Amino acid sequence: MAVALIILAAGKGTRMQSDLPKVLHEIAGAPMLTHALRAGATLEPDKTVVVAGHGADLVTAAAHDYDPDITIALQTEQLGTGHAVAQARDALKGFTGDAIVLYGDTPFIREETLTAMLDARSKADIVVLGFVAADPARYGRLITNGDTLEKIVEFKDATDQEKSVILCNSGVMCADAATLIDLVANLSNDNAAGEYYLTDIIAEAAKIGKTATVVACDEAETLGVDNRVSLARAEGIFQSQKRDTLIADGVQMFAPDTVFFAYDTEIGRDTVIEPHVVFAKGVTVESGATIKAFSHLEGCHVARGATVGPYARLRPGAELAENAKVGNFSEVKNATIGEGSKVNHLSYIGDAALGKNVNIGAGTITCNYDGVFKHHTSIGDNAFVGSNTMLIAPVSVGADALTASGSVITENVPDQALAIGRSRQTNKPKLAKRLMDALRAKKAKGK
Ligand code: UD1
Repeated sequence: MAVALIILAAGKGTRMQSDLPKVLHEIAGAPMLTHALRAGATLEPDKTVVVAGHGADLVTAAAHDYDPDITIALQTEQLGTGHAVAQARDALKGFTGDAIVLYGDTPFIREETLTAMLDARSKADIVVLGFVAADPARYGRLITNGDTLEKIVEFKDATDQEKSVILCNSGVMCADAATLIDLVANLSNDNAAGEYYLTDIIAEAAKIGKTATVVACDEAETLGVDNRVSLARAEGIFQSQKRDTLIADGVQMFAPDTVFFAYDTEIGRDTVIEPHVVFAKGVTVESGATIKAFSHLEGCHVARGATVGPYARLRPGAELAENAKVGNFSEVKNATIGEGSKVNHLSYIGDAALGKNVNIGAGTITCNYDGVFKHHTSIGDNAFVGSNTMLIAPVSVGADALTASGSVITENVPDQALAIGRSRQTNKPKLAKRLMDALRAKKAKGK
């Protein structure tokens, strides 16, 4: 059975107190919209429609950044969730299969739950995702009779008896796409909010002999984000779930609560992550690596057995081969650090390629930027770069070559050569003592 996703993302999110459309606020480095798209993508949908309204340009850009094939349906006025779904009509013309309605501000729906909803379609024409709410507050109530969902009543329109029902509507729904589109086309807005409620399709479907049922999930899955407090809470939930998943998969953490991950962080088993490490997006770490305390990694790859930190920064394009080491106060950007190579202390390696078993002395800098252009540095296998070497790119240091400490290297260094690029030292015998004596004498005279 083909599946289409309809993701509602037109709302303004006034309570976010922000210029950014609500669904673009991020959890773990990705917009909430991306989380909803990723949740839906687990079903391998044949079509995805995002209903955009407020900040439609930005929402469209984010959706297309995720997948350029996503169709955008514009909802210029936000007249209710039913009206929002109706905007997907043109996008779904000719589509046969089921449609699932998801929400751009509901990031935690699990694959298993969506699959259970699709499976339940064998029993009913419409499947609604419900949950038992600890605090039912203002959620729509699911009014059931046995396995049959008879109607959904919005809080504003509910009687006291209906308000006492604790089985609530998550908003997520699944139905045959053509049936869904027909049902939302005929909704009325004759209700307390004056909106076209998606929820009204259940009672309307019953009138034409169609059935509905409920699949229940844990309340945590349906958590929606309305303001920055719930956004921060959602971030916390994501982080704790990600930590638990990684630990269960064999990653070792001593203080997991102090380690932060991006939505796409991948870490292999037997890797050790010390306290206070931040993974921004685009990081993969293979098995058996060690990420020491207070390191920050983004857009990089760390191979098996490599060591990072403490206090290291890996920026986009950093690629550490097996058993490489990047140590304290070193930064690596757009550079490969070959197998067994070491950048152990206080160095900046950017736009560079290091071979195998290279040793980079403390304080070495690849001077890659001339103020306008970026330039490349390459360093051959087994080269030994002396401490405090400035490598003025573009430049190369050959295999088995050596640079003297404190050198400013402006010319390529051949294989096996020693390069010295610094002024020669001169010693002036006894001059230090004479100078200091003169100064102290001056001070003693009070001048
Ligand atoms: C909706 C449900 C309610 C359910 C609750 C769960 C309806 C009528 N009510 O209420 O039963 O318990 O979700 O959170 O569906 N949106 C649009 N265009 C619109 C209106 C809404 O895109 O015209 C989007 C919003 O951006 C938002 C989502 O749909 O992400 C939900 O809309 P909202 O108005 O917040 O619905 P609730 O009042 O929460």
